[in-house]
Amino acid sequence: MSQHKYLLDESEIPTTWYNIIPDLPSPPPPPLHPATWEPVGPDALAPLFPMALIEQEVSTDRYIEIPGPVLDVYRLWRPTPLFRARNLEKALKTPARIYYKYEGTSPAGSHKPNTSVPQAYYNAVDGVRKITTETGAGQWGTALAFACSLFGLECEVWQVRASYDAKPYRRTMMEVFGAEVHPSPSDLTGAGRAVLAKDPDSPGSLGIAISEAVEVAAQDETIRYALGSVLNHVLLHQTVIGEEALRQLEKAGDTPDLIVGCTGGGSNFAGLSFPFIREKLAGRISPEVRAVEPAACPSLTKGVYAYDFGDTAGMTPLMKMHTLGHDFIPDPIHAGGLRYHGMSPLISHMYETGLMTAEARPQTECFAAGVLFARTEGIVPAPEPTHALAVAVDEARRCAETGAEKVILTALCGHGHLDLPAYANYLGGGMVDYDYPADKVAESLAHLPQASV
Ligand SMILES: Cc1ncc(COP(=O)(O)O)c(C=O)c1O
Repeated sequence: MSQHKYLLDESEIPTTWYNIIPDLPSPPPPPLHPATWEPVGPDALAPLFPMALIEQEVSTDRYIEIPGPVLDVYRLWRPTPLFRARNLEKALKTPARIYYKYEGTSPAGSHKPNTSVPQAYYNAVDGVRKITTETGAGQWGTALAFACSLFGLECEVWQVRASYDAKPYRRTMMEVFGAEVHPSPSDLTGAGRAVLAKDPDSPGSLGIAISEAVEVAAQDETIRYALGSVLNHVLLHQTVIGEEALRQLEKAGDTPDLIVGCTGGGSNFAGLSFPFIREKLAGRISPEVRAVEPAACPSLTKGVYAYDFGDTAGMTPLMKMHTLGHDFIPDPIHAGGLRYHGMSPLISHMYETGLMTAEARPQTECFAAGVLFARTEGIVPAPEPTHALAVAVDEARRCAETGAEKVILTALCGHGHLDLPAYANYLGGGMVDYDYPADKVAESLAHLPQASV
């Protein structure tokens, strides 16, 4: 009998999150205050985040215990399944063994509740009334709305205009969970109004939506902000994915040669790969770890490694990261979750250290891989992870030529049931690829913040 699913019992849900920072050869550069270019202390972040999350952000402990009430919620869908993609392998006639860790079984349909649940929990413990956030495709907004509904918090979401228009049912899903949703840029904030004044038809970007959500939270002490990616504590929460996958692959009797994931701000990729990188740093395994980003928004492969703002209006601390410039507005590709101008500072640092590789792919190639995957494995992937699938499929095809029995592990971080308009666009032949926008990026990079001292 050939096994498809590798499952864990509920009792095997990890009870700690893994913090990779103490295991790295050097720590990532700290965030800086934009006025002084000095490292920011916890106080600078306190108006936006609960202290428990700020402590996790700067923690040097390797393991951080997952609170009981968070584990209770994780039990609704964790552990998630690891699948061997036997049907896809057969279709590709490849000797490669392809595994995918599927996070689409969560209430929101992606990996995002792994962090929205603890973020809502710590805010609820602090007595916060409301959380604001940004969302692209709507997966993160849905995940936060779900978590807020469980912990009795209000939730207000700025959804990037391009996705708000293209994916109407994501908005409905957020509203079902009780959130209030606005298209971004909106006229509700100074940041939104400034963008609309320049371009009333702006498709928006994650950077603009972050500015709007941060602006509202910073003005009211009963409101805090939550970020769905990029920051250390978000990546930390996602490591439950990789910890489970390590055990599941052990059950399958395999070790990965290639781990591949898509990167918007880097959280699903980090979540799957960090526990494996821990094993690699300890000399026990030696996989290549590869990030895949959209050709229209290639921060790791074409951005500069520099201090920049995390949002468009320049309200966040400066973070050293691969960036295309904080006011870069990516073309409206369907993978809304990958339309971010920057990259997690931790992933950026690890990429610079040589611990991972990266490549960029155009969207039609990714949707082709997504359709092949759906027709063989039966799951319609979210547009974001089709980027990783495109690379996994190419690698497996190469193995078919060389005979190499490579073990490929990929993060299938969400389903695409609410992204069907994107598939309709692809199947109808109307999907376009956007060239790398060199001029727009150069213009944005000319606005990178500069130290005045
Ligand atoms: C399904 C899905 N995958 C990937 C991403 C990209 O984010 P990250 O790189 O943090 O995983 C998003 C972001 O919204 C998403 O919704």
